Amino acid sequence: DEEHCDPYAWGDNYPSCHPLLESHHSPINLDHQLMKNQSLDSLHLEGFNLTHKGQWWLTNQGHSVVLELGNGMQVSGGGLPGTYRTIQLHFHWGSVSSNGSEHTLDHLRFPMEMHIVNIKSTHPNLTSALEDPTGLAVLGVFIDVTYLHNENFQSISNALPSVAYKGQTKSIRPFPLMNLLPQNNLTQYYRYHGSLTTPPCSQVVLWTVYEVPTYISWAQLFVKRIYSTEELADKQVHLQNNYRHIHPTYGRPVYASKDAKMLTNGVSPLAIFYLFNVLLFIGFLNI
Ligand SMILES: *[C@@H]1O[C@H](CO)[C@@H](O)[C@H](O)[C@H]1NC(C)=O
Ligand SMILES: *[C@@H]1O[C@H](CO)[C@@H](O)[C@H](O)[C@H]1NC(C)=O
Ligand SMILES: *[C@@H]1O[C@H](CO)[C@@H](O)[C@H](O)[C@H]1NC(C)=O
Ligand SMILES: *[C@@H]1O[C@H](CO)[C@@H](O)[C@H](O)[C@H]1NC(C)=O
Ligand SMILES: *[C@@H]1O[C@H](CO)[C@@H](O)[C@H](O)[C@H]1NC(C)=O
Ligand SMILES: [Zn+2]
Repeated sequence: DEEHCDPYAWGDNYPSCHPLLESHHSPINLDHQLMKNQSLDSLHLEGFNLTHKGQWWLTNQGHSVVLELGNGMQVSGGGLPGTYRTIQLHFHWGSVSSNGSEHTLDHLRFPMEMHIVNIKSTHPNLTSALEDPTGLAVLGVFIDVTYLHNENFQSISNALPSVAYKGQTKSIRPFPLMNLLPQNNLTQYYRYHGSLTTPPCSQVVLWTVYEVPTYISWAQLFVKRIYSTEELADKQVHLQNNYRHIHPTYGRPVYASKDAKMLTNGVSPLAIFYLFNVLLFIGFLNI
């Protein structure tokens, strides 16, 4: 809500955030521009179904809640040019009255989106990865809200009250990260070359956005539980709508994996619903 936080103004302080023609920013809308690519099969998610030793750290950074994942997991295959080690995951969400995923499917925004960030293993640190056009691989997972409780999200959900305010950190006992993914549909995903969705908006990300959402319950939703302000601030502000606006693809290829059902392809039920309403409305006005 603060002026300097307006995504349209990020370019003032971070020139690489300017969405210039020919640039490749994220997020994007995913729809009929998708191209089937038969060579994109499932990614190799090494260590994702193990329970690692040690601790993970959940932190409120003021603009998201981040889970630092320690060592032991890496991602490769599925058309990625190398092996990427998993470093952290974080979330984007909306508000009481709006959904907050970053990518949209046929312009439909999901309640939340989780990003699992992986850094190309040839890079010793993030600084050097941000210099490489394919330095990062991010796995994006849509999160839908249902009346069903998702036990797999409970250790994060339980820790949220301890990181309600900016700067707070809580340790979490590691669990198989696989549990947070749409486990039965990992071969269905979209792939394109884009950017970080927060400053410095580096255009160095190979995105894998899973087609099928995972889910949490209303009680597990982040909205209203997290503040962007410190505990002792004069005025507490809820952290909400921490997603960046949609960017044009400028002709970038956006691939659908071999097994993707291209759930967005063709005319969506939502579009038919809108068309129907427009027709009703025109009829009502007697135009
Ligand atoms: C763990 O993942 C590997 C490959 O991703 C898979 O072959 C294996 O069956 C999985 N193990 C369990 C217990 O799910
Ligand atoms: C399919 O994806 C791979 C990996 O991203 C890419 O190298 C290849 O050019 C794509 N194939 C087609 C036909 O576009
Ligand atoms: C918000 O998410 C819900 C649940 O997926 C969906 O039914 C609704 O259409 C979404 N709203 C928008 C504006 O995308
Ligand atoms: C990151 O790695 C690069 C390349 O090896 C090195 O030059 C740089 O000092 C490192 N930066 C930090 C902050 O560690
Ligand atoms: C998810 O995968 C299962 C098993 O392959 C399949 O039956 C189901 O249709 C998939 N879900 C969607 C929404 O594509
Ligand atoms: Zn993100």
